[in-house]
Amino acid sequence: MILLFGFGGVGRTYAELLYQRTGLKLCGVFDSGGGVVKKDGFTWEEVKALLSTPRGGVSKSGVGGLASLDEALEVCQVVVDVSAPNYDTGEPSLSLYKKALSRGLAVVTANKAPLALAFGEVAHKRLFYKATVMAGTPLVDLLRGLPPQRVIRVRGILNGSTNYIMTRVYKDGVSFEEAVREAREMGILEPDPRLDLEGVDPAAKLVIIANTLGRGMALRDVERKPLEPRGPVTRYLAQLDLAGGRASVEPVRLAPDDPLHADYTMNAVEITTEVNTVLVKGKGAGRAETSMALLNDTLKAVDILGI
Ligand code: HSE
Repeated sequence: MILLFGFGGVGRTYAELLYQRTGLKLCGVFDSGGGVVKKDGFTWEEVKALLSTPRGGVSKSGVGGLASLDEALEVCQVVVDVSAPNYDTGEPSLSLYKKALSRGLAVVTANKAPLALAFGEVAHKRLFYKATVMAGTPLVDLLRGLPPQRVIRVRGILNGSTNYIMTRVYKDGVSFEEAVREAREMGILEPDPRLDLEGVDPAAKLVIIANTLGRGMALRDVERKPLEPRGPVTRYLAQLDLAGGRASVEPVRLAPDDPLHADYTMNAVEITTEVNTVLVKGKGAGRAETSMALLNDTLKAVDILGI
């Protein structure tokens, strides 16, 4: 049974899809105002009641019983984190993961901050994080399929909202402000849009890619330049040079025939290995896309726990 930590746009979509697509149930739901727990799992009717509560209102919903996170960890087996990222400390998620993993629970996350700041502290076979990078496109699974093949370089457009904004401005001629407003409405901008526009989000994804490939790295190691449109072929490019140990995110003018060009919320990643070059394109942001990746990881977590 699932403890859902965060109940915003992605959390609510995940809750709906969990009941529509799997036989699994939520046993705890927490938001910024507190949480509710039900030992035997919430019914679909109860989840619908939770879905109708305003943001931050779960603890006032009258559904289930009020509980602390510690109490929820006693009755749930899988923690699913869809809370907003805290790039200063990774908290409260970082401590929650450590506690959950040490008690034998599994953790599934879409929250990049704890991994970008302290990947090594929480890396575990019961930690699943596919939704943190490229949302609905399973890049992390692909990277896991590479060893012992050595990766030399990764280049990617890893931020869906800035790519969407630039496509709307340059291809469709809308104003920058209008494009930002659209991205916010679509739920693809981070709650603090500076995280996208100043490159923290794609830098965090690069760190997660590096660690998945076995290269210990943290957010502070990535050189970042803020997004600065420089004409129609500007892309916010994330680059990881594994041989040189260098990582960067910066706006660049890509050659018009560069295979990394992708529009709107599409992400693109090129992985150059010692024997191959692999190109992956797919949606990198969106509530449904992220929720689908979380669901797949949830099923994997349930499998590994044997429940
Ligand atoms: N803000 C992120 C993006 C959301 O624009 O890509 C998905 O990680």
